Amino acid sequence: AKGERQLIGEANEIAVKFFRAMYGHERHGAVGREYVGKREISDEMMEVFGVGVSVDAWDGLAQVIAKRGWDVRGFELAGLVGRRQDGSLYDRMRHRLIFPIFDAIGRPIAFGGRKLREEDEPKYLNSPETKLFNKSRTLYGLHAAKKPIIDSRTAVIVEGYTDVIACHQAGAKNVVATLGTALTREHAGELRRYAEKVVLIFDADEAGQKAADRAAEVFLTGEIDVAIAVLPNGHDPDSLMKEEGGREKWDGFVTGAEDALSFLFSRLKEQMAGNDTVTGRERIAEGFIDRMVQMGLGKTGAIRRALVIRQMAGLLGMSEEAVGQLISA
Ligand code: UTP
Ligand code: MN
Ligand code: MN
Ligand code: MN
Ligand code: MN
Repeated sequence: AKGERQLIGEANEIAVKFFRAMYGHERHGAVGREYVGKREISDEMMEVFGVGVSVDAWDGLAQVIAKRGWDVRGFELAGLVGRRQDGSLYDRMRHRLIFPIFDAIGRPIAFGGRKLREEDEPKYLNSPETKLFNKSRTLYGLHAAKKPIIDSRTAVIVEGYTDVIACHQAGAKNVVATLGTALTREHAGELRRYAEKVVLIFDADEAGQKAADRAAEVFLTGEIDVAIAVLPNGHDPDSLMKEEGGREKWDGFVTGAEDALSFLFSRLKEQMAGNDTVTGRERIAEGFIDRMVQMGLGKTGAIRRALVIRQMAGLLGMSEEAVGQLISA
């Protein structure tokens, strides 16, 4: 008997082909093609990333499964179809631009579907976690980015599907995305197999700022260099690439990204400067030290630890011994 992983894998393979066929379908693909034109995604990128479309119906895929007599279990396990109380099947991805999520060697393990109508929710509907799909380990675009990452020894991580595609289209191919989650240690561990350095480029919105702050923490225990940049003026990588001179600006952000440690210190400095009471500053400093300890500073290498302590002592106007004691406490 086939195992769950195999069933899901086969269903996903079929679904990629189905969504691609719908994209090429004269009538069913029309809205999707118009949207792709508007987003300026090239035919080549549509191929490389296997982008397709799901139809505006409850039984696009479900009907084909029934008609062809395919084993429905894989599609259910993959979260591609759901089952109603009466036992009938319905499509979970409806009227969306479909971004298959491939593993490092190009097998489809999940899907992200972007709404094609403004009023639909959510903006992106993603596959549930399955035996094949672990969200906090997966990096979107890795199948296409792996070799460029190895060649440049650098992985650039962005937030979204369309960001990855826009970068690759512009020739910046060492780019992958997390899937609407913060960067995790598993992500860092996966990338460490290919890269010496990770550069995180975040959207200019509040979510991006917060994500940058959290991601900076991963550097401490991960044995990989992490640098961070937050884009300006409401941009994300996709919108930046579509601007005049966007690619040159992109290269500037990547090379100019700030080391994660100094990024954290810059944020701390800003917070301290914005608070003029002694108690307030004390609370901020304590909070920062607590966070550092939680991140595992006590367990990190002696050199990195000394570096952090020296910077912190300077910033807080304390002796290095005192800071060291706070961290060991
Ligand atoms: P963004 O809101 O920045 O979207 O979310 P985007 O990638 O720029 O997409 P466009 O340009 O509006 O089409 C960044 C990423 O967060 C995840 C997706 O992976 C998305 O690409 N996300 C966002 C979700 O999973 N669900 C959502 O509803 C929104
Ligand atoms: Mn965003
Ligand atoms: Mn190093
Ligand atoms: Mn965007
Ligand atoms: Mn975005």
